[in-house]
Amino acid sequence: MKTLIALSGSLRRDSANTALLRAAVALAPPGARVVLYDGTHMLPFFNPDIEADPPPAVHELRALLSAADGVIVASPEYAHGVPGAFKNMLDWLVGCAELSSKPVALINTSARAVHAQASLAEILTTMGWRVIAAASPVIAVANRGFDQAHIAADPALAGALLGAIGALVQASVEVGPP
Ligand SMILES: Cc1cc2nc3c(=O)[nH]c(=O)nc-3n(C[C@H](O)[C@H](O)[C@H](O)COP(=O)(O)O)c2cc1C
Repeated sequence: MKTLIALSGSLRRDSANTALLRAAVALAPPGARVVLYDGTHMLPFFNPDIEADPPPAVHELRALLSAADGVIVASPEYAHGVPGAFKNMLDWLVGCAELSSKPVALINTSARAVHAQASLAEILTTMGWRVIAAASPVIAVANRGFDQAHIAADPALAGALLGAIGALVQASVEVGPP
């Protein structure tokens, strides 16, 4: 069984990015499970002074990702950048050597959000994670009012999402177990 951790860049209750990731949880094919991480809002501001001995919420996040076979990221773009809370979460993971080579599906939920997508690809690559191109499509659900049930029931959206999950699983098989 492959475990994929889904990370949303949005804290918004009715977030399209989170809805897409919730649809991924529901659609996970046999042999894979998708787990949505929902602790981003609980993380303290990153501070290198406490990086080596961080609060429990950071330990939990690092342990969750260390044990994962892959990661699915979907994030909005704010002012042509990565949302601050999401970047803060990533900063807590920069120094984690055990996450090196972690395969990532970087899904863009808005075709016009090119700046945040490029920035995230650069950030994740700099962290040593492996962004899998075949698992990183645009699935345009942002600003359309779709919930997870709608996304999971839409053949085109669900098909694209399943394709991304399949490509991520395949990449994790090639990397080997965490
Ligand atoms: C503060 C703020 C800044 C935004 N800046 C951009 C932007 O630069 N480019 C863009 O395409 N969308 C921008 N948006 C729109 C969001 O990316 C879009 O509404 C997205 O669907 C929100 O994601 P969510 O539904 O997962 O919360 C911005 C929204 C907010 C609230």
